Amino acid sequence: TGLVTLDAGFTNTASCESAITYIDGDEGILRYRGYPIEQLAEGSTFVETSFLLIHGHLPSESELADFTARIQRHTLLHEDLKRFFDGFPRDAHPMPVLSSAVSALSTFYPNSLNPFDDEQVELSTVRLMAKLPTIAAYAHRKSLGQPLLYPDNRLGLVENFTRLAFGNPAEDYELDPVLVKALDQLLILHADHEQNCSTSTVRLVGSGQANLFASVSAGIHALSGPLHGGANSAVLDMLETIRDSDDDVDTFMTRVKNKEKGVRLMGFGHRVYKNYDPRAAIVKKTADEVLSKLGKRDEMLDIALRLEEIALNDEYFIERKLYPNVDFYTGIIYKAMGFPTKMFTVLFALGRLPGWIAQWREMINDPATKIGRPRQVYVGEGARDYVPLESR
Ligand code: CMC
Repeated sequence: TGLVTLDAGFTNTASCESAITYIDGDEGILRYRGYPIEQLAEGSTFVETSFLLIHGHLPSESELADFTARIQRHTLLHEDLKRFFDGFPRDAHPMPVLSSAVSALSTFYPNSLNPFDDEQVELSTVRLMAKLPTIAAYAHRKSLGQPLLYPDNRLGLVENFTRLAFGNPAEDYELDPVLVKALDQLLILHADHEQNCSTSTVRLVGSGQANLFASVSAGIHALSGPLHGGANSAVLDMLETIRDSDDDVDTFMTRVKNKEKGVRLMGFGHRVYKNYDPRAAIVKKTADEVLSKLGKRDEMLDIALRLEEIALNDEYFIERKLYPNVDFYTGIIYKAMGFPTKMFTVLFALGRLPGWIAQWREMINDPATKIGRPRQVYVGEGARDYVPLESR
């Protein structure tokens, strides 16, 4: 009833009030709970930033120790859930494996599904934070046919994940501090981004009072698309296509500007940032550092730099305010770290998890929350009479 306004893609419709993340797209500002992303990327850790997003304040020493210890205690997967990984084809994409395993968590922990019981919500929060890295690493190992390691709970979250992803049960694994530090920072940069496609999905699913595992599982699927989190692997595919084809960078850009079907400059443009994406500025610096510290000069980076330079000076991109987004350089770093392209969006999901949890919890605790239920503008047929099959 009443007048409804069409807003395709919700470009101008706020779905909620939120106190978690602030973005000013014209100024290129991003803050979590008021703290600038640049300061968090420089000084914080992923676990501390996760606490900040979820609980609203920077943790005291004892709060951080407690949160860290609780996450460490929950890293193991149920042995039956481990068998789950055998059920997928060997070359299964790790994103649907991740989402399916998170969905399955709700069957293993029926005692922590009540959205209105704070202790249960805290328990599923910690379980998700602890188990998603294990699940992600196992999805990766399975796709390589490599053995699954047990987590080592003396290690922190990122160290544990790195060891599970790259370690070998027959040998000691030596953590590479450059890799761990860079990965930790990338996870911070991805940790929240207000009402993006996957976060809105998590909130929408949760608004029907579905549990946290179910809501996050839906968010992972939403993230997988190439216009959203899937862009990070799409960028690398694009760079490789350019490298391996006869097209040079200029020919590719002409195809982009002619809007050939399915051809976009992946890793460019953003719904909110119309000046620059502050995350991209940090990532570009990290890419440079990581590649030089790991001693990996990458021809992909050269192609990316050339694409960026052309785009930043081209009318098409200037008019439309298209700048590199967070996904433009991350794939190059993940590749240098040794992750296959398929895993890039999984790494995005690991980073975005605390944001999804924080937003779901804010939604559940907000008295103004109603079930998400957009209206539509109907453009179909008017009333008409059913015609029996023999008369059609
Ligand atoms: N390459 C070429 N043209 C583009 C691009 C691009 N990457 N992005 C936008 N445009 C054009 C688009 O064709 C349109 O042109 P016109 O006005 O002539 O019709 C104009 O710019 C506005 O684009 P839009 O699609 O209406 O903008 P949107 O706010 O709906 O989409 C976006 C934002 C991020 C989906 C889009 O810029 C895009 O597809 N970028 C490439 C994929 C990508 O990198 N996604 C990651 C986003 S950041 C992290 C995340 O969310 O996961």
